[in-house]
This record gives sequence, C-alpha cells and structure tokens, in this order.
Amino acid sequence: MTDDLRLGINVDHVATVRNARGGSRPNPIRAALLAVEAGADGITAHLREDRRHIRDGDMQGLKDAIGVPLNFEMAATTEMVTIALDVLPHAVCLVPEKREERTTEGGLDVVGGRAHLEPAIARLRSAGIRVSLFIEADAAPVEMAAKLGAPVVELHTGTWCEAVEAGESERAEHEFQRLRRAAELGSALGLEIHAGHGLDYATAQRIATLPQIKELNIGHFLVGEAIFVGLSEAVKRMRAAMAAGRQGTGQAPR
Ligand code: PXP
Repeated sequence: MTDDLRLGINVDHVATVRNARGGSRPNPIRAALLAVEAGADGITAHLREDRRHIRDGDMQGLKDAIGVPLNFEMAATTEMVTIALDVLPHAVCLVPEKREERTTEGGLDVVGGRAHLEPAIARLRSAGIRVSLFIEADAAPVEMAAKLGAPVVELHTGTWCEAVEAGESERAEHEFQRLRRAAELGSALGLEIHAGHGLDYATAQRIATLPQIKELNIGHFLVGEAIFVGLSEAVKRMRAAMAAGRQGTGQAPR
C-alpha cells in the first residue's frame, strides 16, 4: 500500500481481449491474481448490461479467487443489485450505463436519479457492501451523495485525463482544480474519496498529491502497458508513480 492510497486494478479489458476470440484466454482471474501479487490492494470489474467484457461467472470467480477486496462496478438496476447481493463483493461502485457508449462516459446523475439510487444504496448497504457513487467532480453530486447515504464517492477523472493527453494545459489545470475542490468538499462531508477513469502514470502521480483521495481504480492504461512491459511491471510502476505523488517527489515512470 502507498501510505494511505490504495490501488484497485480493473481487469475488464483482459476480458475484452478474451471475448474477441470467444474462448477462455486471457483469463481475467489470472490477471487479477498477478496484479495482486505485484501490489494491487483490490480488484475492480464492471459487469455491464450487455456483458461485453466481464461476465457473471467472472464476477463470482474473482470474488472466490482473489483474496483481496472485490469492487463490483455496475448500474443501479434491479438485475445488477440482485447479482451483487448474490456475489456479495466487498464493494459496489454504482455507475451510469448507456448501452451504446464505449466506456463509462460521465458521472452518475445523482440529483435526477435519487429515486432509484436511494433504495439500491440502502439494499446493498444492508447486506454489508460498501457502496460508492461514481460522480462528476462538482459540489451538487458530492452533496447529494452524502445525503443519499453513500459512504464513498469515486470522482470521474476522465475529462481531466483527456485534457492532459491532448496537451490542453489550461483546461487540464481547470479540471484538476475541480477535482481538488470536490475531494476537499466530500472529505469535509465525511465521505471517503476515490478517483478513477483514464489515469496513466503521470495523472495517477498528480492525483495522488491530493491527500483526501484514498483509492485509485485503474484499468485500460495498465492492460495496455502490460503488452509492452508485462502486467506485474506495469502495476509496480503505477505504485511507484502513486508513491512519488503522495510523497511529492520524483518523475512519473514512462
Ligand atoms: N472507475 C470507474 C467507475 C470506471 O467506470 C472505470 C472504467 O470502467 C474505471 C474506474 C477505470 O477506468 P480506466 O479503465 O480508464 O482506467
């Protein structure tokens, strides 16, 4: 663990590659075990409505095999809540889901979605599952998350990461400051703050400088890096980037 900053590895895209050929390889559970051995504190997987990557059996298999907390990402639908109550992961992260999107494109509409989110959060929490809400880094969703009784919010870092990648430094700085303010507000309201989406070594290092953030969930970049340096090495480099950010030292690995 990097001080008090945990790393959750999202293995969805190991399943994406597996499903491209319809067989059983590469196995996301094997990837999860390797990631844990290399220093991940937890494993994240998103069971989407269309099962495009992770499948129902993967979720149960991960829960049974990994020996570290499983973070089950899902939409707040009746079907998914039923599955989560059956699998009983350590945590559920509620995300918005549109069938046609390539990835989770924005945070949850926690204000407009209150009526269906509140009972889903209550059912999951009553089963002992830690619930987090994946939200935009704005005051209104942070405040509503606290009202809805979610103990954790995961701040959507995708817009910031896109601006960094595009070299739009002014927009990137604006987005980073949004994240900083949301982390400070959420923490002041008693929420545990996580962050994720689109992170790479450099952005993970920068976001790690925010002391309120307790967990990063990272997938696509690391599965891509695994092609070049191997998954264990990619996880180790990510941990080093997070530690450098937390301690305010060093350059992000390349
Ligand atoms: N956190 C949440 C809530 C997500 O939906 C995703 C993408 O599935 C991630 C983190 C990981 O994002 P990425 O794969 O871009 O690292």
